[in-house]
Formats: sequence, C-alpha cells, structure tokens
Amino acid sequence: MKKNSVLNSTNSLYHPDKSVTKHARIKEYDKLYKESITDREGFWSKEAKGLHWYQKWDKVLDDSNKPFYKWFTGGKTNVIANAIDRHLLTETKNKLALIWEGEPGDMKTFSYFALGREVSKFANVLKAMGAKKGDIITIYMPQIPEIIIAMLACAKIGAVHSVVYGGFSVEALAERIADAHSRILITADGGFRRGKPTQLKAIADEAMRRSPTIDVCIAVRRTGEECYMENDRDFWWHDLMGMPIASSKCETEQTDAEDPLFILYTSGTTGKPKGLLHTHGGYSVYASTTFKYVFDIQPADRWWCAADPGWITGHSYIVYAPLMNGATTLLYEGAPNHPYPNRWWQMIEKYGVNIFYTSPTAIRGLMRYGASWADKHDLSSLRLMGSVGEPINPEAWKWYYDVIGKGHCPIMDTWWQTETGGFMITPLPITPLKPGSATKPFFGNEVAVVDEAGKAVPAGAEGNLVIKNPWPGMARTILGDPDQFIEKYWKHYKKQGWYLTGDSAKVDKDGYFWIIGRNDDVLKVSGYRLGSAEIESALVSHPAITEAAAIGLPDSLKGNIIHATVILREGFAPSDALVEELKKHVDNELGPIARPAHIEFAEKLPKTRSGKIMRRVLKARALGQEEGDLTTLEE
Ligand code: WT7
Repeated sequence: MKKNSVLNSTNSLYHPDKSVTKHARIKEYDKLYKESITDREGFWSKEAKGLHWYQKWDKVLDDSNKPFYKWFTGGKTNVIANAIDRHLLTETKNKLALIWEGEPGDMKTFSYFALGREVSKFANVLKAMGAKKGDIITIYMPQIPEIIIAMLACAKIGAVHSVVYGGFSVEALAERIADAHSRILITADGGFRRGKPTQLKAIADEAMRRSPTIDVCIAVRRTGEECYMENDRDFWWHDLMGMPIASSKCETEQTDAEDPLFILYTSGTTGKPKGLLHTHGGYSVYASTTFKYVFDIQPADRWWCAADPGWITGHSYIVYAPLMNGATTLLYEGAPNHPYPNRWWQMIEKYGVNIFYTSPTAIRGLMRYGASWADKHDLSSLRLMGSVGEPINPEAWKWYYDVIGKGHCPIMDTWWQTETGGFMITPLPITPLKPGSATKPFFGNEVAVVDEAGKAVPAGAEGNLVIKNPWPGMARTILGDPDQFIEKYWKHYKKQGWYLTGDSAKVDKDGYFWIIGRNDDVLKVSGYRLGSAEIESALVSHPAITEAAAIGLPDSLKGNIIHATVILREGFAPSDALVEELKKHVDNELGPIARPAHIEFAEKLPKTRSGKIMRRVLKARALGQEEGDLTTLEE
C-alpha cells in the first residue's frame, strides 16, 4: 500500500494532493470568503445566475420579517428545470444520471433522458390521482430508483414531498402522515436488507389505519412478496405507469422561488418530529453551489453518496445537487457489509467511482474488518472523499484516508443539518486538513462559537455553535408551527439575530472548527438523528410503562447508543423477557434504529422541581461519573 499521508503532513496538517488541487474550481479560499461575506447577496446572486429561472428575482434577500427570511423573491424556477429539463437541451441528455444497484446485485441505469421520461410519466400519474400544486405527498420507500422518480415527479408538478425514511416504523410514519395531512402515499411492497425482504407495505397499511388521511396509496413491486392491496385505495406503480394516463409529456410547473419543495421531518427535543420546510429557489441555489465547490464535480465524474434518500443527505446530495450539476449519481439498496464487508469497495471499483461520501459510523464499522477487504479492490478511480453526520474520530479519519484514499484523496468533513439544507462548515479540495475538524465556514456564512451571552469563547474553549447570517438553503419554517421555529432556533440569540445550531463546538487558533456534538436532547445513533422524547413516548405507549427517560451513551462504533430507564405500572414486574418485549415494541413503533441498547427499571426518575427529567444525572449515573450540581433536583 502506498502511504503518502506521512510525507504529505506537516504538523498534522494534511495538504491536498496536486492531482486534486489542479482542477479544483476554487484556488484560494480566504479572499473569496471575505468577499462572500462582505457582499453576501452579490455572492448568491452570482451563483443563482448559473441556474435556470423562468423569471428572474426582484430581490436576492428579503429580511423584512426575521427570522422568516425569503430568498430570490419574485423569481420563478423549479428544481426540475435545473435537475432535468435544462440537461435535455445539451449533450448531458444521454449521459447517465443514475446508476442503481440493488442488494441482490441487480442493476439499472437511467440517462437524463430516461430519468426525465419516467419523472414525466409519474408526474402525470400523480395528477391523474388528483395531486395538485402545494399538496404534501408522503413517500415511504426502500432505496430503489422509484424513490428518486417519485420525489422528482412531486417537485415537477409543484407538489411537496415528505419522505419518511424506510427504516422507520408504524408510529413514526403515521405521525408524519397525520402532521402533513397527506392524501397520497407512495411506497413499495418492501426492499432488501441483508438478504431478507423487508415488509414496508404491511407497515404502511397499519400507519394508514392510524392516520386515515390517505386515500391513494401507490406501491412499487420490488420484492414480489405477497401483500395486502385495498380496493380503490392501493395501486401498483407498474399498473399505473402502463396506462394511457402515464404520458411522457408533462410541463414542469413554474414555481415561485419561495414555493415549498419538500418537508423533511427531523427529531428535536420534543416528542413530536418537526417538519422542516425547504423551497424551490434558495434550496436549489444552495445545494447546487455547495456541491459544485466542495466536491468539485467534473463532467466525467461518478459520484456516490452512500446515504439513504430518506434523509437530508440523500435529498441534497444523492438527488438534487448532483442532478442540478449534471453529474452521475449512484444509489445502492443494501448494507455495506452484505454479503461481505467488501461490498462498497467492490462497487467503487466496478463503477469507477471518483468521489465517495459516507458517514464516520460506516467507516468505523468497515474498519473493524481490517484493510484486506479494501485492498482486494482497485480504488484508484477515487479522487475525493467525504464524511458527514457526526464528528469523525482521527483514527477512523486516518484509516479512511490511508486505506481507502491511499493517502491522496482529501476528506471533505462536511458539517450541516436537516435545517441548513446544505454544507455549512466544510473544507474545499484545496483546504489543508486536520483529522476530525470540519475546518472552515462555506462561502457566505459567518459561524462562531459563543457563550450563553453571545460572547465569542477563547480559542480552544467549548461553546454554542451559531450561524450569524441567513443563507439561501436555510429551512423556512416548521410545518404548521412557526412559533416552534422561532423557539428552537432563533430565540436563544434573539438580540443578535443568530441561528442556534444545537451543537457544541470549539475553534482552534487557526480558525478551524471542531464539532463536539449535540448539547440538547438529540442523539446521533449511527449518524441517525433521534430525540430522547420520541424514544420515551414509544416506550410509554407500552402498557407496562408509565414513565421513561432515554439518554445517549458514547459508543465507539455507533457514536451514541440508547440507554433507557423505565418505571413500571402497578402489577408489572421487571424481567429479561419484558426488556426484550420493550425493545421489540420500540422497533415496531419507531424503527430498529431507535431500539434501546439497554433498558433499566427504576422506582423513580431524577427530576427538577418543575418536573423536567434530569437526563444529565441519568447519564452521569450510567457512566459512573459524578452527578454534578443537584440543587435543582426535586425533594
Ligand atoms: C447534526 C445534524 C446534515 C447531514 C446529516 C445529519 C451532526 C452532521 C457533522 C460533521 C460533526 C456533524 C451535528 C448536527 N453532524 N455533520 N461533519 N461533524 N457533526 O443531519 O440528521 O439533521 O443532524 O448532525 O450534531 O447538528 P441531521
């Protein structure tokens, strides 16, 4: 194995390889960064001009009703005009837009032309089913091409998609359908995971029973397993796509810049997931610009973001940004270690992937199997790599850099959130890297680490990570709950008008940002975001439980694992069987990612006098640490 990493590094700064910097679009960061924050609107307006608009905007930024910022007001566009339509007028038309590999090894490819055709056909199906501009359509699907076609078809007709991650279960899906008042649900009979078919339709059926707003359910036949289909409500995707209603001619709806493109639910500190709303105009500009500069996409590149389309990473960087940039994007249905731990490395070799983006938890998981699985494969097509979802520990960073990138592929450690729409703190291909640091703010963003009063903390000290300015990709509101939007993100530093990220971080003397983690009751389990409160409400929905507290404990593989403390109702006794039953119950209600690793029975929970669970105390107890200041504890 070639090991240039040592030669490349001075004082643990990793300087990017010349093979990468030579075609990097941005050759120098500091100057352009300064310009981008001195004239933020100028910067974004220049980037926006690179996209197609049916009608140009009047105003780049409308901040007359803070924090409900608006971008490119008066402009008309549609993300589809940029992700598909404009490519059909150039040579990109016959280029591959999507390469898909199923878990069993089946494969499909779509050129931009073919993708455009399928999207138009499905858009017409949706219209025939009564879908209208502004309707929120719920999508609950495995990682198959149809999830992308469904999302794009919604966007094309001006409907709003709400994708619910396919790993979520009944209650999580039901709650999201109800919150969005969806009339249409798009799903599948199932998908494949580790050699086994999953039962999505059965979960969808139960969710539709709990949330009866759905009157049309369209299902893709993926696994071919037997499943229930309700007369006049449930339709097979392939039946509808074979009918005359599915014409391949469909005009893209000319949406206003501020028209909603999608809702994506994410976990916060309350039990109810928040539906964050993103728009056609600003989101298109932000996602496409961040992607272009950070991953330096070139026309011949093959890009692989190994996330699920059901999360913001997938929305922005599997679907929208790559397609807006005319890139070839890859989607894989299954697990990284199935049937063997070389599955991903095999796919990088097979498809000649140039840029690869994944999470620290996946890297740590694959690292366990040793380098030999990767060494079997020719990974020389790789030029750049990326990481997202949680802080990457330097050990995993170095393994990724040396074993996968062979010491010459810089790692773009991108910090961002569902709320931000795209990368906020990130290296560029020219940035000297420090393993474990997301490095510096992206153009247009002023980011800081401050104390409770808003004063910048000294270099190396921990504080709240804030963003001091609006940016085009920012979420516009929480669906149906604008007060919560203010409360969660804007109230803390109201005086300054800053956005509170919920993360704690440090900045070092070179101005590099180091993310420490969430400082609220949000957990990151294998990079997935979950709220303590959601897990608790799943637990208390079991007849044996009257109260529950869920906390995250550090785990070297998953980042966090869930530790739950529960209080039993009268008449129930603690037992191992009950622990298993409760874990299974959380699986069924929320999904396997929310399954607690440990469940412990207690007589009571530590609470403040006002009745709030002191999760901090539970955490200290579970870790055998000092319980800290207990003056607010009740009694
Ligand atoms: C939270 C947001 C945005 C894509 C996936 C997650 C953590 C995200 C990093 C990173 C350290 C990170 C933060 C953030 N996070 N990226 N590169 N380094 N932490 O989106 O589910 O909305 O979660 O993920 O804690 O607040 P999300």
